[in-house]
Amino acid sequence: MKIFIKTYGCQMNERDSEAIGALLKSSGHTLVDTENDADVLLFNTCSVRDAAERKAKGKIGYMKKLKLRKPDLIIGVMGCMAQRLGDQLLAELPHLDFVLGTGQLHRAPEAIAEISAQRKRFAAIDVAPEEIDMLGAHGNTSWSAQIAITRGCNRFCSYCIVPYVRGREASRSLESILTEARALAAAGVKEILLLGQNVAAYGLNGDIRPPAAGHSPFAELLEALNEIPGLERIRYTSPYVSYFNDRLIEALAKCRKVCHNIHLPLQSGSDRILQAMNRQYTARSYLDKVAQLRSAISDLTFSTDVIVGFPGEEESDFALTRDLMNEVGFEQAFIFKYSPRPGAKSALLADTVSEEEKLRRNNILLDDLQHRISTKLATLTGSVQEVLCEGVSARNESRWTGRTGTNFVVHFEPDATVVPGAVRQVKITRSGGVSLFGELIQE
Ligand code: 5AD
Ligand code: SF4
Repeated sequence: MKIFIKTYGCQMNERDSEAIGALLKSSGHTLVDTENDADVLLFNTCSVRDAAERKAKGKIGYMKKLKLRKPDLIIGVMGCMAQRLGDQLLAELPHLDFVLGTGQLHRAPEAIAEISAQRKRFAAIDVAPEEIDMLGAHGNTSWSAQIAITRGCNRFCSYCIVPYVRGREASRSLESILTEARALAAAGVKEILLLGQNVAAYGLNGDIRPPAAGHSPFAELLEALNEIPGLERIRYTSPYVSYFNDRLIEALAKCRKVCHNIHLPLQSGSDRILQAMNRQYTARSYLDKVAQLRSAISDLTFSTDVIVGFPGEEESDFALTRDLMNEVGFEQAFIFKYSPRPGAKSALLADTVSEEEKLRRNNILLDDLQHRISTKLATLTGSVQEVLCEGVSARNESRWTGRTGTNFVVHFEPDATVVPGAVRQVKITRSGGVSLFGELIQE
């Protein structure tokens, strides 16, 4: 059958969709790019903010029209919203055929076969512990690939739905990750992105205490991946700040292929709010960790996630967040307006900050960020950067685009030898508001 998969939410969801797609292909189905061409529509959904759920529900609701025209159309909803709402989705959306929760994704081929055989609607949201290694399949590999190394989360930040929809944290075995990475490298992949809700908790068996000094299974994983021939770059997202101990910092500094960029969620710069969020660090300890990391790796760049308008966030708390962001000097940031999630602890608190005020705080942080990025980019003019070439620039066909290990986008004129995934030296000639421009250095 022809299957269309639409993904909402995070990179983990993208990765899951890729694996489900590959699984469906190996069961004899084909993947198509538009819903109109499809016999089966699969929606892999997100619950992290209310807006993500509303978007998916709106789209799925709209598909009713298509089903009226094509009564045999099969529609399935998977992932986090499926897990959270289960049967309720079947009740709300009468044209929906099946619902597969986060622990049941590998059953997509079976679900499609069942529905086409007997049209009996169902929702499956049981936790399936064996699922941890079941989504290892990859689609058409390019120069870059994602690998899920942990699933679920044990941290229970008070605003967050993830522990409830993705379940308890579990790590894959070192051997299975290495096998996957070696196969990808053999297929021509140059960059891997390791995924997990808290990647630095890899191999800690769900213990919520940050690892003891000298102990970091995540460091061991990075060191093993660093040895794989053919791989050029290793990225990871996201680590929790308290898990960067000496052992891990030493591995980051030593492993040539591990990129000098860390996505380090901050959430707030106010200790009072951090505590209400059940984040296990203070503004001071976050800053100290950043300083320790920078002293080990001088060109390290940082990106982050911040939530504005958490219940009880006063102007003074917001000012602390703003100051801390400027002090760290984040090179990239994702700012989110607080959205209460039913089931998460903070949903019991009054949502005290108005939508307009959340937007105002959001825009202030985005303006600061834009200013910081362009100032930082300007300092790179004249430098030579190692760039992994990605492909023709979306904006200008005569140029190519690539990325530095520190995660800056670089545009350059290609030569005849440039191919996607090639690593080249580029002399930076000028900077723009969000990216760099340069010339290939002929080696
Ligand atoms: N409201 C707003 N943002 C949220 N995030 C997680 N839960 C919420 C919520 N309830 C943000 C956090 C997290 C990112 C993935 O989404 O910043 O790091
Ligand atoms: Fe990803 Fe969290 Fe959204 Fe699930 S709820 S898709 S884990 S961001």
